[in-house]
Amino acid sequence: MQTITITGGQTLHGTIRPAAAKNSVLPLLAATLLCGAPCCLRNAPELSDVDTSLALLQAVGAKAVRHGPDLCTLPVAAADLCGEIPPHLAGAMRSSVFYLAPLLCRAGMVRLPLPGGCRLGPRPVDIHLAGLAAMGARVELEGEAVTLRRFGPLQGVDFTLRLPSVGATMTLLMAACCAMGTTVLRGAACEPEVCDLARFLRACGAQITGEGTPVLVIQGRRALSGVAYEPLPDRIAAATYAAAVAAAGGQITVEGCAPVYYQAFLQFLTECGVVVEKSDALVTLARDPARRLHGGQHLFANAWPAFATDTAPLAAAVLLEADAPSEIYDHLFANRFACATGFAAMGADCRAAGRMLHIAGGANLQAAAVTAPDLRGGAALLVAALAAQGTTVLRDPGHIRRGYAHLPADVAGLGAQCAVQSQAVQESRKQSI
Ligand code: EPU
Repeated sequence: MQTITITGGQTLHGTIRPAAAKNSVLPLLAATLLCGAPCCLRNAPELSDVDTSLALLQAVGAKAVRHGPDLCTLPVAAADLCGEIPPHLAGAMRSSVFYLAPLLCRAGMVRLPLPGGCRLGPRPVDIHLAGLAAMGARVELEGEAVTLRRFGPLQGVDFTLRLPSVGATMTLLMAACCAMGTTVLRGAACEPEVCDLARFLRACGAQITGEGTPVLVIQGRRALSGVAYEPLPDRIAAATYAAAVAAAGGQITVEGCAPVYYQAFLQFLTECGVVVEKSDALVTLARDPARRLHGGQHLFANAWPAFATDTAPLAAAVLLEADAPSEIYDHLFANRFACATGFAAMGADCRAAGRMLHIAGGANLQAAAVTAPDLRGGAALLVAALAAQGTTVLRDPGHIRRGYAHLPADVAGLGAQCAVQSQAVQESRKQSI
């Protein structure tokens, strides 16, 4: 198992640019199954979830490879596609759900064993299934696996999502592109990554209107071609770099990600006392490490455009040493704050109670041995360690690299003392002692 060592107390300086967004690239890769010509996704990060997606595409009969920074796919005949998603690939990431609609549409059936991903609380797929069933799919549940079949083409429907699920909106958007007639999706998610999928599909020939609003209208059965496409920049990675400088102090510029994509997080940092300057696609953030940030924050994480749930643990890391108590409530996930155990081990007075995280503030963080509980919780522990005295050892059972290609190297490039230690290096150190 890899660990990450972080020696706190270094201020950060320099410029950094996030890669393409994980939460765009992963559904776009699934959507390429609908395309009748080659596709290329530019500047795609080297994430383990991307590797898992490429393996999944290969396993179902598609051709997808990495060429340097780009991911390239070739069209595949329906007869060559298999709808069986291998359990080890389904279980390795949540994004295996994005293969439900494309495989159902193209192969006629799909069998998805239990999807994996971060353990953020219950993550049902009932809205995905209800929408696909309304379009005519037969849904069979067997243990933790779901099988979908269609007998004839899917049919366009007028469907209301019971809550604005990002994943279910994407599933139904893809399915609607293949369905006969018009589909209207009401109560749809409005996240930038949903808009990105709509733009990608439209660039391939789909007819979609309304992305970014709760009502999407899709005219189905257009033949989709291929496209060379640059997905959105990763707004959560941008927020992570911003959180890092807020915790450690210094001055950095985040380029290539328009501030509107992480406006709520930048607003929060401003209220904490970080100096934030914004222009078109540049954000400069400065914090004097000698002065405590302002606490007294009451954050409520919810669907776009509210404060993003993925940035809630990062905000917590920033608030641990602040001058007053704060609270963060996560409306979307029941177990968003598993990182609280690690914060407490570093000397923070903070406590998760259901969906609420209470942070007393005023901590003087000390290095500790901590474990990443999930992707964003792991990144938040790394951010907190940048402010702690001494060398923190962050055990990361594969979480951070699911969503950040090189987070330790990124912050080291800004001046942090942060490095990945592989098992082999640790063993040889032990032997030489
Ligand atoms: N939900 C249901 N039924 C469904 C679908 C969702 O009850 O059929 C519930 C979920 O249980 C959750 C809420 O709706 O409580 C929101 O879930 P949503 O479907 O919107 O999230 P997701 O598609 O599973 C994506 C991102 C998450 C991000 C959320 C919210 C991907 C791969 N994941 O998840 O990202 O937190 O949207 O913005 O796109 C991450 O990157 O670390 C991450 C977890």
